[in-house]
Amino acid sequence: MRRAAVLRVVLIGIVVGAVTTAIAIFVPWLPDQGSEQADDYDFVFWFVTAICLAIFAIVAAVSIYSVWKFRAKPDDDSDGPPIHGHTGLEITWTAVPFVLVTAIAIVSTVALARSERLSDDHMTVEVLAQQFTWMFTYPDHDDLASGTLRLPVGVPVELKMRSRDVIHSFFVPEFRVKRDVVPGEEQRIVVTPSKIGEYSLACYELCGLGHFGMRNRVLVLEQAAFDRWAERQQQAVAGPGEEGGKAVFEEQGCGSCHALADAGSTGELGPSLDRLQEQADDAGRPLEEFVRESIVNPDAYVEPGFSADVMPETFDDLPEQQLDALVEYLVQQAGSGGGS
Ligand code: CUA
Repeated sequence: MRRAAVLRVVLIGIVVGAVTTAIAIFVPWLPDQGSEQADDYDFVFWFVTAICLAIFAIVAAVSIYSVWKFRAKPDDDSDGPPIHGHTGLEITWTAVPFVLVTAIAIVSTVALARSERLSDDHMTVEVLAQQFTWMFTYPDHDDLASGTLRLPVGVPVELKMRSRDVIHSFFVPEFRVKRDVVPGEEQRIVVTPSKIGEYSLACYELCGLGHFGMRNRVLVLEQAAFDRWAERQQQAVAGPGEEGGKAVFEEQGCGSCHALADAGSTGELGPSLDRLQEQADDAGRPLEEFVRESIVNPDAYVEPGFSADVMPETFDDLPEQQLDALVEYLVQQAGSGGGS
């Protein structure tokens, strides 16, 4: 009789376990792995998931069996028999979770420590978070700045992250590594991209009205392609102002919000940059001064019909040379009669 009951509970447990395990395994819960750190993180994920599946199966089996076997008859209003606890059971349900939670802590700590190890041949990228965009600076490449995170494949990268205003959170799902970026302190994260491709970096901390749009591109490139890009950018910035300024304009993604005929951009979120002279006149400022101020301190003058607080203030962190080139380029465009 008792053996039959245990057998039934075990049977229900096996069925429930099989169904939930199938759901866990056959639904693609995780995005493709895009970094060498991903394996460790996925191991922790599956380790915890396996424990959860086992516990769920046991609890579900006992619950289902009890509901079915000990259900009170509709007209039965009597109390159940008084029970005085069970020392063996209590020790078990204290000891088992203790062991499991300790195991999870150990496995997670090992994964975290391994993922933060950094070899000597690494690259550094400075990440600046701000409502509502990211900016990346490459100190190993003359402080080149970009609105797109470009990384060479297979090279360990240390991301040093700061925030200018509120808490943001850096996460590229394919890389697995994730970190909150808290104002006033530098956060670091180590990632070794393992697969060439385009990814999306989104902010994972509700940081204000524009949070949903705080997404930047991440490109993982062949080392040679990365070097070519870095060299081209450095040359462009160092070269004649107009060409360098155009490179900065494109690299910073200015065109996604601003129209500028010469760059072929048609963004409408911000004022058209083909009418800079007019806007400078409206603001009552000399053209070059107006352009520079509008980049580093965008709310000093806000064109009628547009809102303050839309343009990021990250651009006053642009390295001097790149800022100069950008200003020169925009002034030249305004001077050439609307970039025709
Ligand atoms: Cu930054 Cu959400």
